[in-house]
Amino acid sequence: MTEITNPGEKKMALLSGSAHPELAQQIAAELGNEVLPSSSYVFANGERYVRFEESVRGADAFVIQAHPAPINEWLMEQLIMIDSLKRASARSITVVSPFYPYARQDKKHKGREPISARLISDLYKTAGADRLMSVDLHTAQIQGFFDGPVDHLMAIPLLAEYVASKVDTKNVTVVSPDTGRVRVAEEWAELLGGAPLAFVHKTRDINVPNQAISKTVVGDIEGRTCVLIDDMIDTGGTIAGAVKVLKDNGAKDVIIAATHAVFSHPAAERLGSCGASEVVVTNTLPLRDDQKFENLTVLSIAPLLGRAIKEVFDEGSVTSLFEGKAH
Ligand code: R5P
Repeated sequence: MTEITNPGEKKMALLSGSAHPELAQQIAAELGNEVLPSSSYVFANGERYVRFEESVRGADAFVIQAHPAPINEWLMEQLIMIDSLKRASARSITVVSPFYPYARQDKKHKGREPISARLISDLYKTAGADRLMSVDLHTAQIQGFFDGPVDHLMAIPLLAEYVASKVDTKNVTVVSPDTGRVRVAEEWAELLGGAPLAFVHKTRDINVPNQAISKTVVGDIEGRTCVLIDDMIDTGGTIAGAVKVLKDNGAKDVIIAATHAVFSHPAAERLGSCGASEVVVTNTLPLRDDQKFENLTVLSIAPLLGRAIKEVFDEGSVTSLFEGKAH
């Protein structure tokens, strides 16, 4: 039996896409539940097929999917899952996308560009989703793209608690790798006992993808343990460049902390050799062995997602998980 029934006769159905089944299993374990069995395969021409093996009629369904590369494949599978649930009379459908796809395309930099992050929300809604749950969105405004309730969960307290256990917080400076993340760095600073802030001045040619140039650091980091934070690490260019600037300016040590380990090539090589003493991420995305390196620590996001799913299912308060705070 893979559905749980409470005294109010509500049924929870946990569904997992194919991208990161381990995370879905961890979430199910947190909830004392099981992932509903399903079949998913690809036809010869690349079309995806999905079918759930048990009834979802009247269930509150949670469609858990991660979005590593090839992101479009996993997105399409998730959309098909939502469509299947809608046609099978699920009572409610919550999309659980810990790493929101296309989040970096959240505004137009030039004329005739799309706002793909908005399109993703529209696709979820059109497929039949009632609600969206995600973790550390690239920008908080993405919450407004989805026409319905959005649970924007924060991994920062989890990451900060771990980092605080590893450093002397009196000697810590929180560093944002660019000006855009200073607000988030402030949240970090608060969690690390009011640590001072610094930021790296980074420039990017919007015509050249995956290339960032870190120029200089603003703030006092000499002799300090720098906690360098970001929402995601993709190719590692931004973060490795920032580590170099910090070391060149006299940082004693650098610990990198980011929520989403995208780790496109050559991230593993860059991160493993950039001079940071530790790289701390969560498992919102799966990591292959060739994406891992020696000083990498991966924290599980499953307890947080499990608690949030339980609050949604019980019609409780997701905000209460963060003591009323939001990004
Ligand atoms: C940028 O705004 C993001 O927050 C990340 O800093 C960036 O996307 C990371 O990309 P990469 O690791 O390829 O430099």
